[in-house]
Amino acid sequence: MVETVPYIPENAPFTAEQRAWLNGMLAGLFSASALPAALAKPSHRIAVLYASQSGTAEGLARKLAKELKAQGHVPAVSTLVGYTSAALAAEKYALLLASTYGDGDAPDGVQPFYEQLCSEHFPRFEGLSYAILALGDKHYEHFCKFGKDLDAKLIALGANPLSERVDSDVDVDEPFERWKSVVIARLNEVAAGHKTTRPALDPAVGNGETMPAGEGRLASAAKAAPAAIFSRDNPLLAPLVDKKDLTHNESTKSTLHLAFSIEGTGLRYEVGDACGVIPRNDLNLVAEILQTLRFNGNEQVLCGKTGKTTLHDALAHHLQITILNRKIVKEYVTKGKCAKLLDLLVPEQQESLQRYVYGRGLIDLLVEYPGIIEEPAELIAMLPKLTPRLYSISSSPLAHQGQIHTTVAVVRYRSYNRERGGVCSTFFADRSTLSDRLPIYIQPNKKFKLPQNSDAPIIMIGPGTGIAPFRGFLHERRALGAKGRNWLFFGERSAATDYLYREELESMRADGHLTRLDTAFSRDQEDKVYVQDRMMEHAPLFWNWLEDGASVYVCGDATRMAKDVHATLHRIIEKEGGMPAQAAEEYVHALKDEHRYHRDVY
Ligand SMILES: Cc1cc2nc3c(=O)[nH]c(=O)nc-3n(C[C@H](O)[C@H](O)[C@H](O)COP(=O)(O)OP(=O)(O)OC[C@H]3O[C@@H](n4cnc5c(N)ncnc54)[C@H](O)[C@@H]3O)c2cc1C
Ligand SMILES: NC(=O)c1ccc[n+]([C@@H]2O[C@H](COP(=O)([O-])OP(=O)(O)OC[C@H]3O[C@@H](n4cnc5c(N)ncnc54)[C@H](OP(=O)(O)O)[C@@H]3O)[C@@H](O)[C@H]2O)c1
Ligand SMILES: Cc1cc2nc3c(=O)[nH]c(=O)nc-3n(C[C@H](O)[C@H](O)[C@H](O)COP(=O)(O)O)c2cc1C
Repeated sequence: MVETVPYIPENAPFTAEQRAWLNGMLAGLFSASALPAALAKPSHRIAVLYASQSGTAEGLARKLAKELKAQGHVPAVSTLVGYTSAALAAEKYALLLASTYGDGDAPDGVQPFYEQLCSEHFPRFEGLSYAILALGDKHYEHFCKFGKDLDAKLIALGANPLSERVDSDVDVDEPFERWKSVVIARLNEVAAGHKTTRPALDPAVGNGETMPAGEGRLASAAKAAPAAIFSRDNPLLAPLVDKKDLTHNESTKSTLHLAFSIEGTGLRYEVGDACGVIPRNDLNLVAEILQTLRFNGNEQVLCGKTGKTTLHDALAHHLQITILNRKIVKEYVTKGKCAKLLDLLVPEQQESLQRYVYGRGLIDLLVEYPGIIEEPAELIAMLPKLTPRLYSISSSPLAHQGQIHTTVAVVRYRSYNRERGGVCSTFFADRSTLSDRLPIYIQPNKKFKLPQNSDAPIIMIGPGTGIAPFRGFLHERRALGAKGRNWLFFGERSAATDYLYREELESMRADGHLTRLDTAFSRDQEDKVYVQDRMMEHAPLFWNWLEDGASVYVCGDATRMAKDVHATLHRIIEKEGGMPAQAAEEYVHALKDEHRYHRDVY
């Protein structure tokens, strides 16, 4: 007989986060004992559904399916693109991994599924037990919103949660493991015939890992276009054909213009899309890590999807070595001999832990607490994957044929007596030269597109590297001969040193292609001036453009700028439209519904 997995009740004296952590740990411990009984049962079908744009949720869904299969269940993996709510209603068990995009929206192609779910006449879901892992990024205003919305909708439709939803920040490994262990323990418990409030599992209805085509998928999706030739897993090695500073030598920052040749490769993009780049770590740092650990780098290791490789290759190409996080510290501590770090791992010390990891990297941990890693495999197991970085494309396929341009702010900082850099931006700045072939792919952004009506006015707000897609938009509109008016708000630190694409922009302003160009150089006077101050200065005109049907686009920093610009947009509508806050809110909602307010923020 299988023991029931103990569960911390909601009224126990813990925060939600502490409770989730404890439940995960208990489930992990008890799922092992549940395993033999679960395996002894006939196999059971579990739909594993993912809503993914750049592949993280999909990768985790496949990983989960493998584990479910190993435990005697029959996972059926499917994307939610083209999936129907009727198909979901026909399932008994569904595990959903859902990322969030745009302004808290579903990933591309998943919205029709969600809309079906929201349609009034949709059947109830009492027969469905489900669990959701929501993927997101805390930098965004609407953290994990799609996963949260999906959860709320399923509850409202009568579905039964198998476990509490887990909301994951970009560092997905730990939340995924925590969620997975609870969910699998629950499924094993039910499979073992335990007394439960959830419905019993049905016998298998299939035995493949992937849902058969047509089952739960719309015919149109089954006929969807073939996958792009180049992707995150199969990037194009594109020659770097231009690399220049957009900022002056005397600037306090460094921003680069890069151009890649895609001539004759078949790689296609649209303005508004992003370019994904697979970076490489700094080999000096790799050497320092190897030396500190007394490894030579030729040790054979198993490294995730890459499989068998050398330790040097794993550290150079496949693992994130510059940043620390809770999971790394936790894994390190479990190997012993660092009592100080152990103290930081208790939930009450969350802030101290954040302070410890901020500005430190793997090398600091290895130097401060030496002699802990004894085998290369231990190092591989504790490090997260090195993920691709995205850059908004700053060219237009019509105006810059055969090329993709990006505009990259180089991340450099000094902390704990060491000069440090962002992996990808310094890969461009310090470790790439002209004619090097760099691995890139296109990350489409269907939500950040020019209006279909080329006569419609557009307002673009893009300080710093936020200018990137707007350079693409302006060139595209010119190449198309679009008649619509163009208004750009650009901001940077100083006009003399940081005015990105100055000549191009001023020339477009001079010939009238840019109807208006308003700049805000924050550090050229005593008090900071930002793009939103310029928007406010021109509030009556801004309002007129809105009333004339202008679409508004915002690109750049998500943490501060996009929030302040959003608030300013509301203020302008309230003031110039003579509306109370609630009505201004509705006005902004209407802009979004009409696809006239778009944000590409990071
Ligand atoms: C859709 C999208 C579009 C984007 N478009 C652009 C674009 O057009 N141009 C552009 O430049 N970027 C863009 N970005 C951001 C870009 O993807 C990268 O995140 C950015 O270049 C940093 O990557 P990196 O590898 O250089 O740095 P990473 O290796 O990711 O390092 C960044 C990390 O370093 C640490 N850090 C940074 N500064 C400090 C400090 N002062 N003290 C302590 N720690 C610090 C922080 O942990 C930070 O998260 C975009 C992102 C997205 C999602
Ligand atoms: N770690 C770093 O050292 C570092 C440095 C730069 C950028 N970044 C990050 O890298 C990304 C891209 O940076 P970027 O080069 O595009 O430029 P950015 O940092 O976004 O700065 C562009 C301009 O925006 C201004 N700005 C700052 N806060 C603002 C706000 N609340 N509203 C409107 N404007 C504001 C900046 O002014 P001031 O800077 O004068 O306030 C600057 O004039 C951003 O996500 C940013 O957070 C990190
Ligand atoms: C353009 C863009 C917009 C995003 N918007 C949000 C958002 O609004 N809220 C959020 O929590 N995460 C947001 N994210 C973060 C993603 O949800 C997160 O990176 C997730 O892990 C991606 O999963 P995927 O690879 O399966 O698509 C955004 C990411 C990008 C690139």
